[in-house]
Amino acid sequence: MSYLILGGAASLSAFIFGIRYYNSRFVWGNYEMMIDKSETKKNRLEGKTFIVTGANSGIGKEVAQELYRNGAHVILACRNERETIALIEQLRSNYCDCNGQLTYKHLDLANFESIQKFVDEIKNEQLNIHTLINNAAIFGGPIELTKDEYELNIQVNHLGPALLTILLLPIMTKHEPFLNTDNLMHKKVIMVTSTLAKNGTINEQLLNRIDDSKIIELRRLNQSNKDIYMSSKLANLLFTRHLSKLITNNLNLDICLASPGFTLTRLHRYVTIPKRFLLALYAPLFAMILRSPKQGAQTVIGCAMSQQVQSDVLYQNCRANDKLLSSGIVNDQQASERVYRLTMSTLNKCLELPIDKH
Ligand SMILES: NC(=O)c1ccc[n+]([C@@H]2O[C@H](COP(=O)([O-])OP(=O)(O)OC[C@H]3O[C@@H](n4cnc5c(N)ncnc54)[C@H](OP(=O)(O)O)[C@@H]3O)[C@@H](O)[C@H]2O)c1
Repeated sequence: MSYLILGGAASLSAFIFGIRYYNSRFVWGNYEMMIDKSETKKNRLEGKTFIVTGANSGIGKEVAQELYRNGAHVILACRNERETIALIEQLRSNYCDCNGQLTYKHLDLANFESIQKFVDEIKNEQLNIHTLINNAAIFGGPIELTKDEYELNIQVNHLGPALLTILLLPIMTKHEPFLNTDNLMHKKVIMVTSTLAKNGTINEQLLNRIDDSKIIELRRLNQSNKDIYMSSKLANLLFTRHLSKLITNNLNLDICLASPGFTLTRLHRYVTIPKRFLLALYAPLFAMILRSPKQGAQTVIGCAMSQQVQSDVLYQNCRANDKLLSSGIVNDQQASERVYRLTMSTLNKCLELPIDKH
C-alpha cells in the first residue's frame, strides 16, 4: 500500500515538474528572445537611465537588477527607503564590475504630492530618462480614502502611475526629440499590466475625488481583492491604450503594456488567511503555473531592453500578444477614451494643488 502511495506521489511530482519545465522552457520565454542578437554585448545599457517603480520587491527588483547588471543607471522609485537602500548595497556588491548606477528616490503612488516631488527632482537634476517602467501596484489593498481623497487601490494602480507618466513625458521627450529611428535613443514607457484586467469593470465615480460615504458604500459591496485589482488594472490599461495612440502621433515615444503572468511575489499580501488556506488546495496547480520573480520579470526586462517594442501592444511570455487586446472591454475604444478623459480631468485638478516644492 505504502509503495502505491509513494509511487503515486512520485508520478504526481514528476508530472508537475514536467509541466513546470515545459512552461519555463517553451511557454514563458526569456528576455533575450526580444533582443536583437547584435545587442548582446556586455554593458549594453550604459548611458541609459531607467525609472523602475516598486523596484524593492518582486518583479521590479528583478528588473532593476538585470538593467543594472547590463550597465544602466536605474532609479529605484520606491516608498520603502530602508529596503531599497539595502537592495542597492547588495546589488553593488554582487555586480561590482558592471558600469551601472543605482539611485534611490522616494515615491509613494498613493500621494500625488510625492509624485510631483519625485518628478521635480528628476527635472532639477536634468536626468535624461530613457525608459519609465510603471511596475508598482497593490493587489486588493484595503478600501480606504487616500490623503488626496481617492480610493487607495485606484490611486496606487491607476491614477498615481498615470500622473507620473503624464508629468514625465515632457521631460523624457525634451532631451532628444524625434529619435525614434535611432535605436540607441528609442524612448519608452512600459505599463506593467495583468491579463486579469479584461475581467474588470469601470466605476467612473472612482476616477473622481470621493468621500467617506462612498468608501463605506464600496466596503458594503464586499468586493474581493481580485475584483478591486482587476478594475484598477483595467482603468490603467484603457488609459494607457488611449494615451499611446495620442503619443505615437505627437511625441515619438512608445508606450507598451507588459504582462508578467502569475508570479510568486509579495503582491498577494492582502489576501486573507482563510483564503490562503483555500488557495493551498490548489498548490499542485500553482506549482505548474506559478513563476518565480525572475521568470515573471522576463517580459518586462525584454520590453525595457528591446528596440523593437511598439506602442499599444501587449507583451506576454516575451512576445507580442495580439489576441488579448483584440476583444472585450480592453478593446472598447469609447471606454478607453472616456477613462482617459476622466483621468486627465482629475489629474489636471491635482496639478493645480498648491504643492510645497522644497
Ligand atoms: N505577481 C503576479 O502574479 C502578477 C501578475 C500580473 C501582473 N503583475 C503586476 O506586476 C507588478 C509588480 O508586482 P509584483 O508581483 O512584483 O508585486 P510586489 O512584490 O508586491 O511588488 C509591488 C511593488 O509595488 C510597490 N508599491 C505598492 N504600493 C506602492 C505605493 N503606494 N507607492 C509606491 N510603490 C508601491 C511595492 O512597494 P512596498 O514593498 O513598499 O509595498 C512593491 O515594491 C504589478 O504591477 C502587478 O500588478 C503581477
